[in-house]
Amino acid sequence: MTEVQDSVHDPIGFLSPELLKGQVAFITGGGSGINLGIAKAFVRCGAAVAICGRTEERLAGAAAELEALGGTVAYRAADVRDPEALQASIDHAAEQLGDISIAVAGAAGNFYARAEEMSSNAFRTVVDIDLMGAYHTARFAFPYLQRTRGSVLFISAGQAYKANKYQAHVGAAKAGIEMLMKDLAVEWGPHGIRSNSLVPGPVSGTEGMTRLAAQSGDEAWKKAVPLGRYADKEEIGAMAAVLSGPLGGYVTGAQYIVDGGLGLVGSSHITEAVEQALFNAE
Ligand code: COA
Repeated sequence: MTEVQDSVHDPIGFLSPELLKGQVAFITGGGSGINLGIAKAFVRCGAAVAICGRTEERLAGAAAELEALGGTVAYRAADVRDPEALQASIDHAAEQLGDISIAVAGAAGNFYARAEEMSSNAFRTVVDIDLMGAYHTARFAFPYLQRTRGSVLFISAGQAYKANKYQAHVGAAKAGIEMLMKDLAVEWGPHGIRSNSLVPGPVSGTEGMTRLAAQSGDEAWKKAVPLGRYADKEEIGAMAAVLSGPLGGYVTGAQYIVDGGLGLVGSSHITEAVEQALFNAE
């Protein structure tokens, strides 16, 4: 087996600190995990950043981290399931920082559950956070994005296009996000607004991954990824900055997969048993 490649040290360092100069980003779920990683990448690329999440304390801590990187930062707590609170958070961001030019719909919820056993409320909770939250983020950011000819970035997942056991609620929500992303690309393109999705695979140091891996096993995940490792948050943040800023100026309606190859695995009949038969028969 070939040796596993390490991640590039500090991929954001390869991007210009002026890449997102003058831009104002609003990021849901920005208080932690992948979305805080995206916020940090945006700050390092020169954007002013507003983060939104459920808890004020978490947002305050994240804002301090962003300010330590030299960022101009705003935050107001909102649960993306509460449209009025979300709208207030978006409007507050614009009041503090100026018209939003990048909206990132990153807030998500996930847990493993059997489709036949979970409650309607459990299924609805994930759809409300992921799909309805993403729709409302884009919708409430629209007036600002229209003025700035900005972009929306939806944080999706491989569950959107690859079937998984115990993830029916997540798959339904994420597949909805992908079509929403494409519909908005077509409908809002004439306003100069771009709409794309980013599909991370497993990312190290995130609450979601830590919880899922604790249940299903760290090694099972790593073994499933062709690159043999989790992504660093910086690798996701760097791609988000490229897609959301002028480097991605002609990219819209695109699903951008940054998953170490995970989405390609699993549909082949070349299972471990077949490999054994093919190459270790003697
Ligand atoms: N299995 C089955 N059902 C579950 C569940 C699980 N592991 N976890 C939650 N639910 C159900 C609850 O029982 C409840 O349904 P009920 O009212 O019929 O009992 C429903 O989902 C809502 O759960 P609740 O805990 O009240 O919602 P919440 O708003 O506090 O939490 C979640 C939202 C469920 C998404 C929670 O996992 C969460 O907040 N996660 C943090 C964010 C996250 O997951 N990040 C990673 C993204 S990849």
